[in-house]
Amino acid sequence: MTSEPPTNSPDNLPKVPTHIAIVMDGNGRWAASRGLPRLAGHRAGTENLRRIIRACVDFNIKILTIYAFSTENWGRPSEEVEGLMMILEDVIDKELDELNAEGVQLRHIGRLDQLNQRLREKVLHAVETTKNNSKLTLCIAWNYGGRDEIICAIKHMIKEGVDPEEIDEDRVNRYMFTAGIPDPDLLIRTSGEMRISNFLIWQSAYSEWYITPTLWPDFDREELQKALQAYNQRDRRFGKLSTACDKV
Ligand code: IPE
Ligand code: IPE
Ligand code: MG
Repeated sequence: MTSEPPTNSPDNLPKVPTHIAIVMDGNGRWAASRGLPRLAGHRAGTENLRRIIRACVDFNIKILTIYAFSTENWGRPSEEVEGLMMILEDVIDKELDELNAEGVQLRHIGRLDQLNQRLREKVLHAVETTKNNSKLTLCIAWNYGGRDEIICAIKHMIKEGVDPEEIDEDRVNRYMFTAGIPDPDLLIRTSGEMRISNFLIWQSAYSEWYITPTLWPDFDREELQKALQAYNQRDRRFGKLSTACDKV
């Protein structure tokens, strides 16, 4: 008797995106709906991230980029900002060894110079420790803004005296925080907001969007599977014609 593949098997997903990027939104609303402080939502969101990292490994996704702290998030009350910084520190302290053992390579995108020295060193240490891992690249967007990234790239090119005639898409890619990482195939935003909020504005030119009302702490493996199923229905044309269309 042939058994059906389990519903969470990658066998059911012929097209597996190489790179998924997630705007992990809705932690505050998740907490508010339970009468909890916002930071409790951020902690629940962090626990969920652990589950989603495992699911990505199981689904054979090679790169996961997570939007965890934007350049605009500094505008939140200082207790929330400080709490978020502590959560990142905690995650690195508690999870680094396990992530390393699981073959996860950590990368950071964004600006480290505005973080306190201890956190900056922890992030750099985590990146260095995991740099030879290849099971999954987990790219943490922390103090990240798409516009800031473009400004940094322009400044960098000018400082290096790049000839304007030599500026093309490949060159710009190499000056982005994401240098060497392919563009996201699938961009997920939880909590129903339909905006990009300054995330990967250069890299997402042809990413497929998937927006779900589910709040980030509730976005589990099954929800990820639904996003992957939706991705499998998409016809990515990149401005050309569908491969299914053979008549003009
Ligand atoms: C996303 O959750 C996490 C961060 C922005 C750090 P929010 O904190 O934005 O949650 P909501 O949107 O207020 O529910
Ligand atoms: C985007 O969420 C940033 C992160 C998830 C880190 P926000 O909650 O900050 O975005 P807006 O304010 O709704 O656009
Ligand atoms: Mg939000």
